[in-house]
Amino acid sequence: TDDLFKNVIAHAKEYGFVFPSSEIYDGLSAVYDYGQFGAELKNNIKTYWWKAMVQLNENIVGIDSAIFMHPKIWKASGHVDGFSDPMIDNKDSKKRYRADQLLEDKIAKYDEEGKTNEAEELQVEMDNALKAENLPRLRELIIEHNIKCPISGTANWTEVRQFNLMFSTQMGAVADEADVVYLRPETAQGIFVNYLNVQKSGRMKIPFGIAQIGKAFRNEVIARQFIIRMREFEQMEMQFFVRPGTQKEWFDKWKETRLKWHLALGTNPDKYRYHEHTKLAHYADAAYDIEFEFPFGFKEVEGIHSRTDFDLSQHQQYSGKKMQYFDPEIDPATDKPYGNYIPYVIETSIGLDRMFLLTMINAYEEEDLSTDEKQDSRTVLRLHPALAPVKAAIFPLTKKDGLPEKAREIMDKLKLDFNLQYEEKDAIGKRYRRQDAIGTPFCITVDHQTLEDNTVTIRHRDSMEQERVAADNLDKIIGDLVSW
Ligand code: GAP
Repeated sequence: TDDLFKNVIAHAKEYGFVFPSSEIYDGLSAVYDYGQFGAELKNNIKTYWWKAMVQLNENIVGIDSAIFMHPKIWKASGHVDGFSDPMIDNKDSKKRYRADQLLEDKIAKYDEEGKTNEAEELQVEMDNALKAENLPRLRELIIEHNIKCPISGTANWTEVRQFNLMFSTQMGAVADEADVVYLRPETAQGIFVNYLNVQKSGRMKIPFGIAQIGKAFRNEVIARQFIIRMREFEQMEMQFFVRPGTQKEWFDKWKETRLKWHLALGTNPDKYRYHEHTKLAHYADAAYDIEFEFPFGFKEVEGIHSRTDFDLSQHQQYSGKKMQYFDPEIDPATDKPYGNYIPYVIETSIGLDRMFLLTMINAYEEEDLSTDEKQDSRTVLRLHPALAPVKAAIFPLTKKDGLPEKAREIMDKLKLDFNLQYEEKDAIGKRYRRQDAIGTPFCITVDHQTLEDNTVTIRHRDSMEQERVAADNLDKIIGDLVSW
């Protein structure tokens, strides 16, 4: 399984899905670039989310708020004071670690070695220290359990200190304290501060939701596992505003709805599970993660959080502006309108990059095609056709006899509707394999018969079967499979 993960990373690079950022300068830690097919796949995942969340729900609208926001927003949201990880440095290697991560690795090691008592005890001790924000205790635990730096091999540790994960920069020409702005660590706050603008301009009635897709930035202490933990990443978030007292029912609904969204892509349900949070974030009264089984274990892909009225109340307090909504509906208990209140919020928050990785891992297959006569294999990405970066590839059988011209003529008719690729180099078999490797559901070959009767062969990615069809039907054949 370790191999699978390595192979997917190598494949993602070789075929133009994901590159390390600034690679010619030896990379930039935990930052990645999406290549030509990665950008397409990412866009298709976004479209799938946007359609499901915004277009299919009359009471959800989408916005696109700025990455820079007033610095007070992050004071109000709790991020300036609370969005930090406990950090420790090894004095010999000068390497920086997350204290809780070092302890978790040790717990996993105890587990591996069958020392379940030690593992459980340390877990409890660590949880208590984290809850009490007892940083010296975290250091004691690291020393007591003889945890060494993997680089220097020594246990020569500094104190533990809180390290804020927000990136800051200066806005405007004069660099003084007042000009500090942050790069947003979540897209959610852009929704909260616009909730009344959207509600009023869109005449939205509770319950309603606001969705957004966009970049978020976190100065993660340690970067791990490729695009699982990045310093610049993308979130797809939706805040659903509800009447106080109804949050439980909406929380359950969104928890279910979001898992269905994942499963609708055809993923094996065994690969998914819910994980309930016992340590809740400062804003939440209930939280579940949707986890996916990556080759290195189950990892969070999406969070569903019941955020109460925490954020809106904080913004009311810090901005001095009313964040109330007037609910004209009649409360059967009092026979009067529900009236003014600050709505409660259910949030669904999925990491686009984790969804991307999940999709790649799920689709990746090294298929053995050997027969008695010869050994053979192919690497194929069995992507859901709606997510595939290229929907069909068009090949002239040869580079002469007017076949390229005919192929381009067919392509011109289809390319407004579908992302296509034209390829004329190499033998057909080689061209098929290249398309399999990027997950293209159809390969269309134009040959001499095409010039006579306007039919082509169409080859299916998954079954590798070929059939002869009228070129005029391609629109429908491709459309039927790749549509949402
Ligand atoms: N607004 C709520 C929020 O931001 P979160 O659990 O911190 O909640 C939501 O983040 C999702 O964003 C996670 O489930 C994960 O998929 C993704 N995510 C968080 N940090 C990330 C990182 N450093 N790199 C990639 N994805 C990340």
